[in-house]
Amino acid sequence: MDDHLIPFITKDNIEKRLKEIAEEINKEYGKKKVILIGILKGAFMVLADLIRYLNVDTRIDFIQASSYGSSTVSSGKINIIKDVEMDLKDQDVIIVEDILDTGITLNFIKEKIEEKKPNSLKFLVLIDKKMRRKIPFEADYVGFTIEDGFIVGYGIDVDEKYRHLPDIFIFKEKR
Ligand code: IMP
Ligand code: MG
Repeated sequence: MDDHLIPFITKDNIEKRLKEIAEEINKEYGKKKVILIGILKGAFMVLADLIRYLNVDTRIDFIQASSYGSSTVSSGKINIIKDVEMDLKDQDVIIVEDILDTGITLNFIKEKIEEKKPNSLKFLVLIDKKMRRKIPFEADYVGFTIEDGFIVGYGIDVDEKYRHLPDIFIFKEKR
């Protein structure tokens, strides 16, 4: 049973866009110390690439939430599997996520992180599926805005598959 992967966003385009966003962050944060928190697992690649273009004082941490299970449809149920380890009190924090879809995950993470009393909190998403929102959520930095459609590659999976692909593809199951 082969899946169908349709080329969508190339690694060159991702790199170009991440460099632009990193430039914005460099300007906005300047001499501040910034803590970037990647949401596992999907954001590991975008975080790893992005931080190489930053020249602000950068620290990283990770958080992991559960939600989608092994389906391509969101269950809406969510909890924290792995919390951040750093003390975020009075810190300038940027949450890094692969995909902003219904908004359920980031709204939940936002609440959890706000409880830790950071000085500032911003959100960076590589992909924004703006039209699919069930709860309002605006990210501060957006890589690409796309219409509906399920994607894989560049850290993003379907049932843990395809995270290693350097480019992003539209995923179609072969039947
Ligand atoms: P939200 O809570 O609906 O915003 O869900 C966001 C999460 O759902 C992302 O972090 C992804 O893990 C997953 N997700 C949403 N759309 C896709 C997709 O097209 N491919 C793979 N995972 C997706
Ligand atoms: Mg995810």
